[in-house]
Amino acid sequence: MFDVNEVRKDFPMIMNHPDMIYFDNGATTYKPHCVLDAMMEYYTCYNSNIERGDYDTAIRADKAYAHTRESVAKLVNCETKEVVFLANVTAALNQVAYGLAKDHLKEGDTVLLSEAEHASNLLPWFSLSKQKGFRIHYIPLDQQANADPEALERCLDDSVKVISLAYVSNVLGSVQPIKEICRIAHERNILVCVDGAQAIGHRKIDFKDLDADFFCFSSHKMCGPDGVGVLIGKYPLLQEMDPLLLGGGMNARFYADGSYILKDAPEKFEAGTPNIEGVIGLSAACEYLMSLGMDQIHAYEKELRSHFIDQIKDLDQIILYNPDNLSGPVTFNVKDIFAQDVAGYLASKGIAVRSGNHCAKILHEIIGTDQSVRASLYFYNTKEEIDRFVEALKGLSLESAIDVFI
Ligand code: ALA
Repeated sequence: MFDVNEVRKDFPMIMNHPDMIYFDNGATTYKPHCVLDAMMEYYTCYNSNIERGDYDTAIRADKAYAHTRESVAKLVNCETKEVVFLANVTAALNQVAYGLAKDHLKEGDTVLLSEAEHASNLLPWFSLSKQKGFRIHYIPLDQQANADPEALERCLDDSVKVISLAYVSNVLGSVQPIKEICRIAHERNILVCVDGAQAIGHRKIDFKDLDADFFCFSSHKMCGPDGVGVLIGKYPLLQEMDPLLLGGGMNARFYADGSYILKDAPEKFEAGTPNIEGVIGLSAACEYLMSLGMDQIHAYEKELRSHFIDQIKDLDQIILYNPDNLSGPVTFNVKDIFAQDVAGYLASKGIAVRSGNHCAKILHEIIGTDQSVRASLYFYNTKEEIDRFVEALKGLSLESAIDVFI
């Protein structure tokens, strides 16, 4: 197991804010030196566009960009040609929804989602269902937003063509049984798309073993730079799918009569100059996480979370929404205090959390509230930080929360 105190030294944000407790890792994670260095090296030593230049620095940039496909493929066990770079997980989920709606879905078909999904795995489907006439249904979830494969199986009929689900809920940390869902879905020729934003960087992902058709994530949730998303797709499906964006870099030929030929996947999805430094930084993030060990990261986070739950589950004023989920954020309310006021009070103690609906605006159908406080941990957090957090919570009353704002 890694030494958390050593690991913390890898993160300039932690070193520059020694008294701050950062529990908003679900929103974004900190970046280690190696990621920042990789990006700085690109800008200072070989800044060039990719796949266009024949000079040394351009060739070096080509190689570094291509190398990230290898790092990602190693991290998630897929083929390099199955790795598509986009702007973020939202772009990846939009690409899948658009691509499938265009050629795979028709009026009368059904797409299965869940009420725990983030906006980026709902709104593209909402919009396309209006255009194409397919239906949206929600799979049944328990009170902590966990799906039961048997209940899912009962929702399946011949109209269901796609299931799109978050592997780990960004609000409750519920982990869906994706492998089992893929097995059930594939027996019926249903495609499965996974929003892996809150899973990547926290647990070992094996794309081949999960057997999902598409797996999407963002680099910034796994110690990588902002502005880079990854779509992993089974290659024949990527080859069949039309890109959402057209332009330079992704076409093989085009003609005055308006016809054009696209490159093969993954390049055909990467129109325009990409976020080259971000993609290069992502490679460093993948290598960094692999050097710590994904199983070790997961085990440490589970230990942290269980320590957290033990500390707060018996506090009278706390309403806890996900005590039994084994990983992911700890999400709660303080009785009679608005979630954002709790977050403001915690901020006054140097603690960063997220409050509100967390972009999961229909989850209240499951948990009965659309305002909560989310403390999301990562492997560089410590039990001491959790203890300080709990002490701060114990000092919270309606009066102390109001005091922060007057
Ligand atoms: N989707 C990110 C979150 O859950 C931003 O906070």
